[in-house]
Amino acid sequence: MRLIGKVAVVTGGAMGIGEATCLRFAEEGAAVVVADINEPAGQDTVRRITAAGGRALFVKTDVSKEDSVRQMVQATVAAFGSIHILVNNAAIFVLRGIDATPEEWRQILDVNVIGTSLVSKHVVPEIRKAGGGSIVNLGSISSFIAQPQFVTYNATKAAIATMTRCMALDLAPDNIRVNAVCPGTIWTQIVEKLAKEKGLTRETADTDPTWGGASMLKRVGEPREIANAILFLASEEASYVTGAHLMVDGGYTAV
Ligand SMILES: NC(=O)c1ccc[n+]([C@@H]2O[C@H](COP(=O)([O-])OP(=O)(O)OC[C@H]3O[C@@H](n4cnc5c(N)ncnc54)[C@H](O)[C@@H]3O)[C@@H](O)[C@H]2O)c1
Repeated sequence: MRLIGKVAVVTGGAMGIGEATCLRFAEEGAAVVVADINEPAGQDTVRRITAAGGRALFVKTDVSKEDSVRQMVQATVAAFGSIHILVNNAAIFVLRGIDATPEEWRQILDVNVIGTSLVSKHVVPEIRKAGGGSIVNLGSISSFIAQPQFVTYNATKAAIATMTRCMALDLAPDNIRVNAVCPGTIWTQIVEKLAKEKGLTRETADTDPTWGGASMLKRVGEPREIANAILFLASEEASYVTGAHLMVDGGYTAV
């Protein structure tokens, strides 16, 4: 039980990597707040945690709206007393090239970049009050590489990589570590949808040369494999790790 006595906020905890992280944290003893715009899926995550004997609360949250974020933090503290861990996981996938409209740019910047900054801004005072803790941001292989027609998304993930280093520097005196987990292609609902659009199934996605086939391990990853890396960085096992980017990509970016 690596997170016993800890309170964790996971944005985008209703689905995919966020959902797997909420379940994994609860297994390790944390009280978990599922902060997401998707209420039915978020409540379902909470039901699965409580059915297994864990503690969890869904708070409907739009990370791009400051009032919504403020209310989420108030609801978390009212329910669980403090916050020790934040996972900035919520993101949208506006996948556009150089012809993206200003509206498309604003849409993705609002959620992926400004959303991460707003949640951090309002959660950090609570982590400070608790004497310190850990923030894990979701970067990506897309933080570091070029991918065709992905200018909008990759720009936001590159911003997350730099924000992680800057936040780590600024928050070190408060005993708050800030790191990023950078997944390769992970089989979540959104990735399954993108795969279908390209005519790929789970099996062919594993071997396709631009999907799983591009990794050393020759497969796409599972949400729980990312949740395990997030758990490590969130826990005291990573007590001397800050400002780091942990690639969890089956070796994709190492070749
Ligand atoms: N799946 C992958 O292959 C992959 C690879 C690299 C990085 N990532 C990163 O991992 C994270 C999770 O990805 P995923 O595949 O699980 O995505 P997903 O679409 O399955 O889940 C994202 C969650 O965020 C929520 N969300 C969206 N906008 C929100 C908002 N404004 N406020 C609150 N919640 C909001 C959604 O409702 C959803 O529950 C993202 O940051 C993504 O960039 C994913």
